[in-house]
Amino acid sequence: MDAPVVLAPMSGITDIASRLIAKSFGAALVYIPLISAKALCLGSRKTFDLLISDAAERPVGVQIFGGEPDIIARAVEILNSHPIDLIDINMGCPVPKVAGHAGGASLLRTPKLACEIVAAAVGSTNKPVTVKLRAGWDESTINAPELAQMLEKAGASAIALHPRTKAQGFAGKADWSLITLTKKNVNIPVIGSGDVHSPNDARQMLEETGCDLVMIARAAQGNPWAFSRTLTLLERNELAPEPSQSERLHTMVRHCTLLVKYEGERTAALKMRKHAAWYVKGMKNAAKAREKINRSKTVGEIIDVCQAMVGEWHESCSSDGGWKCFATTD
Ligand SMILES: Cc1cc2nc3c(=O)[nH]c(=O)nc-3n(C[C@H](O)[C@H](O)[C@H](O)COP(=O)(O)O)c2cc1C
Repeated sequence: MDAPVVLAPMSGITDIASRLIAKSFGAALVYIPLISAKALCLGSRKTFDLLISDAAERPVGVQIFGGEPDIIARAVEILNSHPIDLIDINMGCPVPKVAGHAGGASLLRTPKLACEIVAAAVGSTNKPVTVKLRAGWDESTINAPELAQMLEKAGASAIALHPRTKAQGFAGKADWSLITLTKKNVNIPVIGSGDVHSPNDARQMLEETGCDLVMIARAAQGNPWAFSRTLTLLERNELAPEPSQSERLHTMVRHCTLLVKYEGERTAALKMRKHAAWYVKGMKNAAKAREKINRSKTVGEIIDVCQAMVGEWHESCSSDGGWKCFATTD
């Protein structure tokens, strides 16, 4: 993997459109986030829909969660026939639906079970199995560097670490020194996550912690330039300018088009509310636009709000009267 910058898994956010956009801006790896191993085994239609992927986004990982080794093994067997490149096991999610059933962040408290889960996954596939961890359950039980070592022995091919505890949620600062310690403890690649808000942060994390790859999550929302600008900084030591309003608009419309293509117009309209609000963040009148976006019922309305704001109508858009002309060309 040449570019050391990846799109973090974000449940409800890193849908196929976001992943394809991130990829086109240089993300080296993207993930289908937080798939329930149990739901896969039960054949849940909704869960299988989440696995829809496009060759253009590869390499792509699927992140699964669960607390039972045999169910994880069966889920991994199901994933073997999918066009994906790695399987990641979530050991950091704090939400009760995940951590309340022995999976997600709960596994930080049960290292033996965590290792059994990794071993079960590794025994069921030829694809690499990776793990995404938090620092530990709470401040008094921080164990990611030691747990990473155990998971490597159990067969994990890489460790991603968001060094906040489960108890912390998103409060406070991510403790990058735990990424440094984890990197020293293992011989497999380490992916650092947490508080990478800018290209300079990404470079600093790579240099300071020695991690192999950096993961960008919140800073990539409505901002795929996070990838291209970081790569420019790393490759040429230059900080590229922020995107213009027009670039933002065009990418937002592309995002919208992809969402319509893969998820249909109704779902796209709902999902675009948050994505569009992120794309216009920081622009003049963004707050007013966000209000209008939240009331919009169709993708066309959302795009109208953003275009009016930027004061620009894309030629091919205005020529035949709507956003749909993008849908046919992308
Ligand atoms: C809305 C949201 C959803 C997330 N969903 C997931 C998830 O499904 N799986 C996961 O491992 N981490 C998830 N995370 C955590 C991120 O992958 C990342 O580790 C964390 O946000 C820290 O990185 P950041 O400071 O760049 O945002 C999520 C974070 C956010 C903000």
